[in-house]
This record gives sequence, structure tokens and C-alpha cells, in this order.
Amino acid sequence: MSKVVVISGHPELEKSNTNKIIIDQLGKEIESIDVRRLDTLYPNYQIDVEAEQQALLAADVIVLQFPFYWYSVPALLKKWLDDVFSYNFAYGSKGDKLKGKELITSITIGGPAESYDPLGYNHFTIEQLLHPIQQTAYLAGLNYHAPIYTHGMVYIPGVYNTLEDVEAKAQAHATRVIDKVADLLSSQERQVSALVKAWFENMDNLGEDETPFLSELDENVVFHVPEGEYNGHAGFKDWYRQLRNMFDTASHTLEQVVITPSEVGFKADLRVRLIARTASGEDVNVLVNEEWQLSFKSDQPKIVRYQVDVVTG
Ligand SMILES: Cc1cc2nc3c(=O)[nH]c(=O)nc-3n(C[C@H](O)[C@H](O)[C@H](O)COP(=O)(O)O)c2cc1C
Repeated sequence: MSKVVVISGHPELEKSNTNKIIIDQLGKEIESIDVRRLDTLYPNYQIDVEAEQQALLAADVIVLQFPFYWYSVPALLKKWLDDVFSYNFAYGSKGDKLKGKELITSITIGGPAESYDPLGYNHFTIEQLLHPIQQTAYLAGLNYHAPIYTHGMVYIPGVYNTLEDVEAKAQAHATRVIDKVADLLSSQERQVSALVKAWFENMDNLGEDETPFLSELDENVVFHVPEGEYNGHAGFKDWYRQLRNMFDTASHTLEQVVITPSEVGFKADLRVRLIARTASGEDVNVLVNEEWQLSFKSDQPKIVRYQVDVVTG
């Protein structure tokens, strides 16, 4: 099982100055890696959907490696996405096959950093331009990570940059991707992600026993939730008792999970849809933003702050 699959979206990798270096470096330094060069696998853009889906199923971490073309992915990678992220694979009632896998976008960008700014000639930030990919990840249940990108990657002899310069930047870029992959595979971040998942599975059960929740909470945890403010394990028990009285059934869907390092350890930004039925038979369908702060105590993540805000129109 390859833990890491790299999808190389460059349409002509042999002619690349930077993506080629990055791809070669990832191939050398990451163990258990499957590098899928779309340019050589599919020169006619006829994607083998079954083979690509199998490669994704086998991976924990998916890296999309591509040059920025017209503020987006190259056409070959877009075709791959259109074909491979199919109904009941990446979305739809049975489309949970990618759920919980990590997605890294790794991008080489021609234009300079200052141009990707409201006052620059490219107007928008890279993060804004990547919103369609970010939303694709959310819909597929992938854990979306901050993109890794490097500017000024065009080499036009005598006009832009030197070959040595872009090659050195490509090497440095590869190191950032390798470090991120190592973090994700080993990491505390994965433990946080597992905790988030387990938390909502327990919330769906609404079981009488609070122990599974308490083991995930710091003893001084603070809850800011629509029902009020609750402190510590005792506070959680009060809140949870209210929820159990309020709801007969509850189903939580994690529409967005973004985990980032924070001052106390990690911050989890979540968007959660709750579909529930109240004890009085009323149907509830709400969307909430949650911000959790977690810190590590004896190698285990614990929630120290839990904030819920209801999303309104
Ligand atoms: C068709 C095409 C479209 C491009 N569009 C953009 C763009 O929208 N923004 C940008 O900053 N650079 C753009 N570039 C520059 C590429 O991002 C840059 O050449 C590439 O990242 C270098 O990677 P390589 O050395 O692996 O080919 C474009 C280049 C090509 C060929």
C-alpha cells in the first residue's frame, strides 16, 4: 500500500524546469510513494479511471503537483479530476471513498508574489484562486491543507530568472512538500484529525456514557456553544445531558476540516452540518462553524477550547 500518491499534472514534464525536479525529489525521498505522471500515462488525455481510483484508495496522503496555468490546474489535471472524482466515489450517497485522506496541493507559479494581491496585476491571492479545489476537497471529505507554492518559477533565457535560480527554488519547494508529508504521516495532526472524527461519531450515537468524550477533553476545557458557556468535565456533562434531552437522533456531517498549528498546539476549524430530530418530533438542519483549540498531554490531543457559531444565511 503506497501511503503517498503524487499526481503530476504537468503536461510535458520532460520540458519542465521545476516540476520535474520536485517530482524527482519526492520520488527519491518519500518511502512508499506512487508517482503518477499523467503526461506519460495519458498522452491522449484518456484517463484510466479504475487505475487512478485504486491508486487513491491505497493512499493516505494525496499530493497534487502542478504548474499554475491560467490561474488554475493544467487541462490534463482537470480532466483527471473530472473523470476520477466520480459519483459514488468522491461524492454522492456512497461517495465516501476519499473521506479522511489528506490532500496537499503543491504548485509552481510563474508570477511574482506581489502580483497576487488586491493591488497587484493578478488581483487575487493564490488561496482565493484555489477555492474551487478547496471546495472539491471539502465535498469529497478530503482534509484540505494550506497549499504549498513557490512564485517566480518561469525561466525564459535572458528575460526571466536564471536556470540555477529556478532550479534552487524547485529543490527548496520539494523539501517543503517532503516535510509536510512527513508531518502528516507521523503526526500529531493525524491524531487531531482522528479525534475530530471520533468525536462526531460519538455525538451521532448520543450514548448515555460520557466517558468517550471525557477522554478527549482537557480537564479545564471551556465550551462556548449556542446553549451557553460550560467549563471543565462537569460543564461538558451538563451540556451533553441537555443535548441528549433535546434530540432523539442526530447526524453530524463534517463538511470542512482544517487543522493548523496554533499557540497551544493545534486549531481545528470545522464546518459541521447537523441533521437531527428533536424529542418533540421537529426536524433540525443547521450548519455550524466550530473552532477547537487542542493541546497535547502525554502524547494525546485534548480539547481545551470549543467554540460553536451557527452559520446564518
Ligand atoms: C499555459 C500556461 C499558462 C500559465 N499561466 C500562469 C498563470 O496563470 N499564472 C502564473 O503565475 N504563471 C502562469 N504560467 C507560468 C507557469 O506557472 C510556469 O511556467 C510553471 O510553473 C513552471 O513550471 P515548469 O518549470 O515545471 O514548467 C503559465 C504557463 C503556461 C505554459
